[in-house]
Amino acid sequence: MRSAMLGLLLSGFLALGAAASAPSGAWDAFNYAPKSKTVWPASVYHVDGTVTSADDLVANRGPATLTGNGTWMALDFGGEVGGLISMNFLNTSSDASIALSFTESPLFISPLTSDDSSYPSANMSYDGVLNVPAPLSSGYWTQPSYALRGGFRYLTIVSTSDGPVTVSNVSCTISFMPHVEDLRDYAGYFYAKDPTFHDADFLTRLWYSGAYTVQTNTVPLNTGREVPFVSSPGWANNATLGIAGPIIVDGAKRDRAVWPGDMGIAVPTQFVSTNDLLPTRNALSTMFAAIDPETGALPESGPPLSQTGSDTYHAWTLIGTHNYYLYSGDVQWLQTVWTNYTKAVQFLENKVDSSGLMNVTGLRDWARLGGGGHNSEGNALLYKVLTNSVDLATYMNATDLASTWARNASSLKQVFNQAFWDPSQGMYRDNTSTTLCPQDANSMSVIFNLTTSQEQAISVSAGLQRNWNELGPIAPELPDTISPFISGLELQAHFEAGNDTRAMDLLHREWGYMLYTNLSVQSTLLEGFTANGSLYYRGYRGYNYDPSYTSHSHGWSSGPTSALTYYVLGLTVTSPQGKTWSIAPHLSGLSAAEGGFTTPLGWYGVKWTEDDSMFTLDVDIPTGTSGIVQLPYTQGKVEINGFEVGAFEGDINLDGGRKTIVVYR
Ligand SMILES: *[C@@H]1O[C@H](CO)[C@@H](O)[C@H](O)[C@H]1NC(C)=O
Ligand SMILES: *[C@@H]1O[C@H](CO)[C@@H](O)[C@H](O)[C@H]1NC(C)=O
Ligand SMILES: *[C@@H]1O[C@H](CO)[C@@H](O)[C@H](O)[C@H]1NC(C)=O
Ligand SMILES: *[C@@H]1O[C@H](CO)[C@@H](O)[C@H](O)[C@H]1NC(C)=O
Ligand SMILES: *[C@@H]1O[C@H](CO)[C@@H](O)[C@H](O)[C@H]1NC(C)=O
Ligand SMILES: *[C@@H]1O[C@H](CO)[C@@H](O)[C@H](O)[C@H]1NC(C)=O
Ligand SMILES: *[C@@H]1O[C@H](CO)[C@@H](O)[C@H](O)[C@H]1NC(C)=O
Ligand SMILES: *[C@@H]1O[C@H](CO)[C@@H](O)[C@H](O)[C@H]1NC(C)=O
Ligand SMILES: *[C@@H]1O[C@H](CO)[C@@H](O)[C@H](O)[C@H]1NC(C)=O
Ligand SMILES: *[C@@H]1O[C@H](CO)[C@@H](O)[C@H](O)[C@H]1NC(C)=O
Ligand SMILES: *[C@@H]1O[C@H](CO)[C@@H](O)[C@H](O)[C@H]1NC(C)=O
Ligand SMILES: *[C@@H]1O[C@H](CO)[C@@H](O)[C@H](O)[C@H]1NC(C)=O
Repeated sequence: MRSAMLGLLLSGFLALGAAASAPSGAWDAFNYAPKSKTVWPASVYHVDGTVTSADDLVANRGPATLTGNGTWMALDFGGEVGGLISMNFLNTSSDASIALSFTESPLFISPLTSDDSSYPSANMSYDGVLNVPAPLSSGYWTQPSYALRGGFRYLTIVSTSDGPVTVSNVSCTISFMPHVEDLRDYAGYFYAKDPTFHDADFLTRLWYSGAYTVQTNTVPLNTGREVPFVSSPGWANNATLGIAGPIIVDGAKRDRAVWPGDMGIAVPTQFVSTNDLLPTRNALSTMFAAIDPETGALPESGPPLSQTGSDTYHAWTLIGTHNYYLYSGDVQWLQTVWTNYTKAVQFLENKVDSSGLMNVTGLRDWARLGGGGHNSEGNALLYKVLTNSVDLATYMNATDLASTWARNASSLKQVFNQAFWDPSQGMYRDNTSTTLCPQDANSMSVIFNLTTSQEQAISVSAGLQRNWNELGPIAPELPDTISPFISGLELQAHFEAGNDTRAMDLLHREWGYMLYTNLSVQSTLLEGFTANGSLYYRGYRGYNYDPSYTSHSHGWSSGPTSALTYYVLGLTVTSPQGKTWSIAPHLSGLSAAEGGFTTPLGWYGVKWTEDDSMFTLDVDIPTGTSGIVQLPYTQGKVEINGFEVGAFEGDINLDGGRKTIVVYR
């Protein structure tokens, strides 16, 4: 009976049918997602020239009149949005015309150009404006769909003719999450007060910011950035992004393409917040369909970019496959991609040479320098692929493969430590001919379990902190750069190494900067920035010194969302859909935290409070599941639902259901 029911629940369709609706509470006030799919400007940011009644446009949807060629007004939507603009034109004379420009950061508000999305250019005016030429159609008008802007906060309306132009009812129809009606109906939540920070609600706000960031990256199939990029001035977002939609992409404004590395952070965010995994399945299916049938190489990015030649992003697609299966239990899908999955694992294994290490030859990556040859980041990713593959092969009953992969993983771990561990620095080096210790491989070595002892993990965590300035870690492998993508991995490494204080410190510095700085959108999360906090991210590394090209809504920067759930609440699933799970709270200097997520098996909730004498943990987990509770104390009297537990040493095996665990200290 039980196994028949489970079989049913594991089947593909139900797997994706997890109902949303986390419990409601004080945390709902921090949800950034709009209440309606049509949003109106929240305020007038600036006017220039003769504009009458601009405030009316915000207060009661208009009308406002712009008079004179070059007169403009900048409207603020109050946070990141994306979609098509509509408005009504009134009293239009036949020669009246306007132009629209868009930007995420207020730094780039201009009547002459939008922030850049088509191509990075040092003049910061590649994209230009959307001209709406005369004659303006009287009445309701909607921006042409090819000219969609997927991410912006500020809209500027410019008069480009001499006479008056009257507009009213300026709105944006949200284009992301096309398959979901109520964007605020999350399947998970998180809530904690952090009294040590200038905003005690920072952690809750940040959790929701990451969740909303990934929602803005979840887009309709036919809204990709056109490749080759349209020539300047202009932009076009009507390219097809894969084999099915909706689909998850890297960023709201750009690139608007599938990037498997980014998914390594964005998909765990999606799982704990919306449990909306269909866009992930579509993205992964798109990558497997594009496998090179000869070599087994997977592309680096989805269409229409379709870049190739990245061993690390190849590995991230395989890691994404494990994440998707673990979260969804979608075994039918796993079976359809299994042949190509195993081929793609073998593609990496074929690069392992007589040294026992992979020789990384597909050099494209997250923008870091170097990375070739016997490189530690590439080999750390291979190790994660192999250990994940053992897990997947076990589910697939492919026992021979499971044991070969397990053997190969364990020998790789040994060679990895021999080749890369530098005892004098207490960290892993980038390759065998350098002393540089990169942020990426060191973070990965801790979270992927390449370290051989807790002391080694503690040493790496301490070493990573040596890269910090007041805004976060400066990546040694990409000088002058703070990468929230790699920092999301580093954050997990500090928790894994047991230093919650350091993890919280990193959150405060780096995400505290990103969430509040008035260079950004104060709602979704920046792609990256420079050591001094500027937007010239990657300026010298592909982005042509164009700070207006940087994305302000990038799912790869949302690492704190899953980290707060997985570490501060301590709630993780350890087998598909959470049939087994683990709860291991990290107190992190807080006195209480609560939250949870939904899977097709039901609601998983955790709430803990701590004071001088007592630690209380309330869990609410689907019955029929089981897990391990690891308490943050190894001593004290422990009660479960009022009954004392004997011989307590920190870990408790528990079945699902509602339980209250109290530790008297
Ligand atoms: C402009 O249009 C509005 C509504 O269509 C109308 O009520 C108003 O009289 C017109 N104003 C002028 C100056 O034509
Ligand atoms: C900005 O530079 C791009 C090339 O990167 C060029 O195509 C475009 O015309 C320039 N725009 C302006 C306004 O100078
Ligand atoms: C105002 O804009 C909304 C949203 O785009 C639209 O549904 C409505 O029809 C518009 N009102 C008028 C009078 O055109
Ligand atoms: C408006 O001003 C711009 C820039 O000076 C000019 O190129 C354009 O021709 C003017 N438009 C009209 C209708 O005069
Ligand atoms: C995108 O829109 C542009 C402008 O309308 C058009 O020329 C182009 O053919 C469209 N591309 C696709 C793939 O539909
Ligand atoms: C597997 O790879 C082949 C090319 O070798 C491709 O034609 C097929 O669509 C892929 N299957 C899936 C399910 O992606
Ligand atoms: C080895 O690492 C250093 C430092 O990151 C880098 O400069 C060099 O290019 C790397 N070697 C190879 C073969 O990639
Ligand atoms: C990796 O392979 C490339 C290309 O075959 C080769 O040039 C390079 O020497 C190899 N690196 C190592 C460390 O063996
Ligand atoms: C693996 O074997 C078990 C036991 O025979 C079976 O229930 C399950 O469906 C198999 N899994 C797959 C993916 O075939
Ligand atoms: C295991 O490692 C050996 C030696 O590197 C390699 O030849 C083999 O292809 C690997 N097997 C698998 C299944 O990856
Ligand atoms: C980490 O790896 C060791 C083997 O090196 C293994 O015994 C241990 O179970 C692994 N830990 C986890 C959490 O997988
Ligand atoms: C944890 O990190 C802090 C720095 O944030 C450091 O001062 C402290 O010594 C570390 N604690 C342990 C136990 O390593």
